[in-house]
Amino acid sequence: MRTESEQTIYLKDYAPTPYRIVSVELDFKILEDSTRVRTQLTIEPREQTAPGTPLVLDGDELKLDSIAVDGAPLVLSAYVSDANSLTLMEPPHRRFVLETEVTLNPAANTKLMGLYRSSGTWCTQCEPEGFRRITYYLDRPDVLAPFKVRMSAPRAVAPVLLANGNLVESGDAGEGMHFAVWEDPFLKPAYLFALVAGDLGSITDSFTTMSGRKVDLGIYCTHGKEDECLYAMDSLKRSMAWDERRFGREYDLDVFNIVAVSDFNFGAMENKGLNIFNDRLVFAKPETATDANYHGIERVIAHEYFHNWTGNRITCRDWFQLCLKEGLTVFRDQEFTSDERSRPVQRIHDVQNLRTSQFPEDGGPLAHPPRPDQYREINNFYTTTVYEKGAEIVRMLATLLGEAGFRKATDLYFERHDGDATTIEAFIKVFEDSSGRDLSQFSTWYLQAGTPQVNVSDNYDAASQTYTLTLSQKVEPTPGEATKKPLVIPVRFGLIGPNGSPMGWSKVSGGTVEDDLILLDTESVTLTFAGVANKPVPSLFRGFSAPVKVTSNLGQEDLLFLARHDSDPFNRWDALQTAATTLIANAALGTAWSAGEVDALRQALVDTLENPDLDPAYKAQAIDIPADTVVGRHIGKDVNPDAVAAARKDLVTALVGPVAEKLEAIYHGLAVSGPYSPDAAQAGSRSLRNGLLGLLTTGSDRGAELADRQYNDATNMTERYAAMAISARNWTPGAPALLGDFRTRFAGDPLVFDKWLTASAQATDDGVIERMRATLAAPDFPRTNPNRLRSLLGSFAMTNPVQFTRADGLGFRFITEAIVDIDKVNPQVASRILTGFRILPTLEQSRRTAGIEALQALKDQHKLSRNVGEILDRILA
Ligand code: PHE
Ligand code: ZN
Repeated sequence: MRTESEQTIYLKDYAPTPYRIVSVELDFKILEDSTRVRTQLTIEPREQTAPGTPLVLDGDELKLDSIAVDGAPLVLSAYVSDANSLTLMEPPHRRFVLETEVTLNPAANTKLMGLYRSSGTWCTQCEPEGFRRITYYLDRPDVLAPFKVRMSAPRAVAPVLLANGNLVESGDAGEGMHFAVWEDPFLKPAYLFALVAGDLGSITDSFTTMSGRKVDLGIYCTHGKEDECLYAMDSLKRSMAWDERRFGREYDLDVFNIVAVSDFNFGAMENKGLNIFNDRLVFAKPETATDANYHGIERVIAHEYFHNWTGNRITCRDWFQLCLKEGLTVFRDQEFTSDERSRPVQRIHDVQNLRTSQFPEDGGPLAHPPRPDQYREINNFYTTTVYEKGAEIVRMLATLLGEAGFRKATDLYFERHDGDATTIEAFIKVFEDSSGRDLSQFSTWYLQAGTPQVNVSDNYDAASQTYTLTLSQKVEPTPGEATKKPLVIPVRFGLIGPNGSPMGWSKVSGGTVEDDLILLDTESVTLTFAGVANKPVPSLFRGFSAPVKVTSNLGQEDLLFLARHDSDPFNRWDALQTAATTLIANAALGTAWSAGEVDALRQALVDTLENPDLDPAYKAQAIDIPADTVVGRHIGKDVNPDAVAAARKDLVTALVGPVAEKLEAIYHGLAVSGPYSPDAAQAGSRSLRNGLLGLLTTGSDRGAELADRQYNDATNMTERYAAMAISARNWTPGAPALLGDFRTRFAGDPLVFDKWLTASAQATDDGVIERMRATLAAPDFPRTNPNRLRSLLGSFAMTNPVQFTRADGLGFRFITEAIVDIDKVNPQVASRILTGFRILPTLEQSRRTAGIEALQALKDQHKLSRNVGEILDRILA
């Protein structure tokens, strides 16, 4: 069946609008059952616009109630309107005021784009194309205007009235109504518009900026949740201070408000002066939020705040440039967390995330460049490639320019482009101008899809004391890109001598080396180091200096040598990961490991655990045996997830066996005493303890009971959730009871219910799909809430390959059948869950066929949204 619209939008077709919007005045009359929006747009033609050029405004599911130009109602022949557009056939060839009126039904807006109601609260989401669901407008990011918003609502149901900018007026409006007027002096695109009306509690605080201005801060939430917003407030103040210190960026308005809502398609939104958040990224208390939740809150509060400069004051010219604001802002939030917590731990965390979600995207049917040049549905491009690979590209720029050079460049960026809607090209130009470097080849990172594979081989010649290192790069074809250009790959490196200390050399030839940086910018480079006294082990891509996959001639012994001796903490971690991944992958493909290999890996892990110089958070990452999905990716094709899961379990069992008692003793020794704090030190101890619990549960018969006990003795959610999730994933004898207890213990808390849904979806036993069906079918399951749906279905499709990719197709069909229903309610949520099918090309034949059949049935039998249609076609292509 055909989907909504199959029109493709191309970057090459970009042209500015023929008309400018000079200013916007909006008047919202919010009533229980409908909202009337009256809009006054002051518009003028651009200089080059010919008289008589039609003005086409965007709409989406709108119905025009009235229209006037300069106060006079328009005759029918002067305009055409339908749900998706409003065209003035021959607008005045001068500045004029267009007045329109529409009526909305926010309660029926289950797509959660535009104005909608979430648990009674009226709120908006406009990025990327939601504003056109509120009023007819030039809804694109290069149309910037000052906004003035008047809103009125029944005082009893909506005592709080918020919008962007500063409150300039408020008061009684008669008949139980009241009003507020907000004005935003900063020019902004419509996607940054926001409005909230509801009966909300709040906490307030203030921040004094570096130039001494006082900013009032507020976080609004459901009544009774105020105490759970304190960590978010603390994170906000730290973010504001950090952006002044690290980037010299000061906040600009007198008010900064955040609102937490329960129904939200993404994590949060950076609307000017009025961020709106998914409540899961605001609320936290020790009994119901995990350390990971606190970490996530801190990160996203920072991320949205940082957008004020990278996104709002400097915005995107068009949506192809999304990475301009997202890649840079993710880089900034990663740096913030690194400075606030532990840099190596944060780096490992970010790389793990990149490998488990971005690499699979970039190596599959949904691969696209960080700056795409075409799309059917822009909502499908809020991807991990745009965000996380985008951040890696900015990080490489920082690596190439060095700390001072990078700051100089960002200073110039803010100075040159403040107030602009700009492009990736302009961004790169700033880095070129400030450093004098030619970055034309570097910019290929933005324009080309696929994860580069770097192959490394080395050779030492003792007689001449020379060491040669050959690096070559290649990118596999991705959809629509058969041939690939070589990239500029910064390789931060060191050579390590036999005794574990760094080795020097007298001279290097054959390529570009700047200090500890090799620049790999051709298909292959061979470097010759002279004056190398002994055979070194190379440590490459220190700190993960480029988002690439590496294959090398290093054996297990070399890897474990690096794990022990590398001065770079990231590479020590990575060496252990590679060693474990290789053993599991080989075993899954039929090549068993030797006892010696397992002994050596075990010894390396134990030594790491017992090293007093390492902190627990780092140790937790070091002993984290790569997930099935990571190993599956490493194998790459004809993957049998059952074989991978079995091999992983076997390896963990072999590793744990002889040291189970020791691990258990360390586990007990890590119990945190005293009151709970989400700080990095306490959280690190808990994560190491939970990591050990995971190893003992997967790899010995001691874990299941320990998990039961940890669950029951837990004094906070981090301990309790981990015990339940580990039990569920390993489907221990105690798992059903723990899941049952958890569900009733926290009945009525939707965010804790999400945790239950996630843990339930990760169970690997054959009963999991039937249980999930029952959960979904319960009459009280909140089937329109994105968090609930993603926790159950998203977790299953993304993190439970054993059951999702079953050869009998049951897992695939469970998801496609759910998607049919969800798509009618919320296409964005549906298409996101569908992306789990990107795993198909890596699977062995029978599973792949079953997956394709499920997708084909979805395509043939249903009328689907453009969101789902596009993802479906790309996966089936
Ligand atoms: N711009 C938001 C962010 O990255 C994400 C978002 C996109 C939220 C679209 C809602 C809708 O912070
Ligand atoms: Zn963002």
